[in-house]
Amino acid sequence: MGCKTAVVVLYSVLLIRHVAGTMWNKKSHRFYGKSIEDNIKTRDDMHSRCPVKVSSKTCGGNGSVSTGARQPTSAVSVSGMSTKAYTTTDTIRISPGATPTLSSASVFQLEESWSGNNFFLGWNFWDSDDPTHGSVEYVDQPTAQANNLVSMNAAGNAVIGVETTPQVAGNRRSVRITSSSSFTGGIFILDAVHVPTGCGTWPAFWTVGLNWPAGGEIDIVEGVNDNANNQVTLHTNPGCTLPLDFGTGNLTVGSSVLGSNCAAAETGNSGCGMQANNANTFGPGFNNNGGGVYASYWRDTGINVYFFPRNAIPSDITAGAPTPAQWGTPMATFPASQCPPSQFFYNHNIVIDTTLCGDWASGVWGTSGAPGQEQSCAQRTGVSTCEEFVRNNGSAFQQAYWEISSVKVYQSSRQP
Ligand SMILES: *[C@@H]1O[C@H](CO)[C@@H](O)[C@H](O)[C@H]1NC(C)=O
Ligand SMILES: *[C@@H]1O[C@H](CO)[C@@H](O)[C@H](O)[C@H]1NC(C)=O
Ligand SMILES: *[C@@H]1O[C@H](CO)[C@@H](O)[C@H](O)[C@H]1NC(C)=O
Repeated sequence: MGCKTAVVVLYSVLLIRHVAGTMWNKKSHRFYGKSIEDNIKTRDDMHSRCPVKVSSKTCGGNGSVSTGARQPTSAVSVSGMSTKAYTTTDTIRISPGATPTLSSASVFQLEESWSGNNFFLGWNFWDSDDPTHGSVEYVDQPTAQANNLVSMNAAGNAVIGVETTPQVAGNRRSVRITSSSSFTGGIFILDAVHVPTGCGTWPAFWTVGLNWPAGGEIDIVEGVNDNANNQVTLHTNPGCTLPLDFGTGNLTVGSSVLGSNCAAAETGNSGCGMQANNANTFGPGFNNNGGGVYASYWRDTGINVYFFPRNAIPSDITAGAPTPAQWGTPMATFPASQCPPSQFFYNHNIVIDTTLCGDWASGVWGTSGAPGQEQSCAQRTGVSTCEEFVRNNGSAFQQAYWEISSVKVYQSSRQP
């Protein structure tokens, strides 16, 4: 088999996601316990590594997502915001414009909704090696169902867990799903009751385009180990940056800017992003609070990610008539002034995954000080490596599950 470009694209993307996170978690100029110089080398090595061991830079280049998704054509722009752009076998859906819904002024149409019994329809299960080198065996849908890694609970929520067998010889089974549909612009809403947490975990809810990094990547919910504060990250082609005068005043939870150049190639693949300062945004704080809603609002004027704790979800979202103008200030915001989304983001698939250890979670196993991670996982568990802990401590992964009420995508032909 050749170096499947599809696999390669996602492979590269995940390598990058890791690097970004680790860099921002740094307490010193170190990475994998190595010097900055070594880090740069490491990144280059990682970036050129193909799943089939073809060492070529083209592995970070073009390709289509191997998700079984309908293959998009180049982006089709419809009056400002483009709709899903598919090949001739698909109809390009153009929303009719403002449609009064309930009492709201929402102009958005529901494009996709995953919840309850239907949650696992319309996703492709990744069953290849983890591109981020996690200690996981990603399994296909029948295996995931047979092992109860995916299910619906009594509350009607989808549950996506990892294997909790006390001891495993190699990797633990886990799940990574990619939406069959892809989207250019719109509102992506995750209503989650619980996110995976605990030493060794690295979950993420994110969207990613074709031809990475040209199609861009938006990491909406992400963190490792016992992290308490969510990180939002963009990865793009050169030319996308955050304004220099970017302050915290516009951010509801006082997020910290982690990096202002979103270009993968110019930042050692770190990208740009923000970390919430509020501990109810991720991990145990999020879970103890009954979770909440993340809404990624991507339009031509910028990308905003909003977080609403369970007790403060806007009624327009609950009513299915999203009205971003009523949402207040976002947790993370990436204005178009120095990064026009129409130029840097297109044809995104949604991905939900939980890996264990891997480049990021394993890389900071011995690191203390991050919010929620005041004591390192090495100290906390008494086990010196993440991989050893994952092999021998299955019961520690009881909390390593997603419980999701719904994932919804709204689009509009008109920008409110
Ligand atoms: C990617 O595609 C573009 C346009 O199709 C092409 O110019 C470029 O050389 C390709 N890059 C790689 C790495 O194949
Ligand atoms: C933050 O808000 C101020 C005042 O509303 C506005 O002038 C400024 O452009 C905003 N900054 C960003 C980066 O959105
Ligand atoms: C991990 O597993 C070892 C061996 O079974 C056990 O002694 C230890 O208490 C476990 N630690 C945690 C944190 O689960």
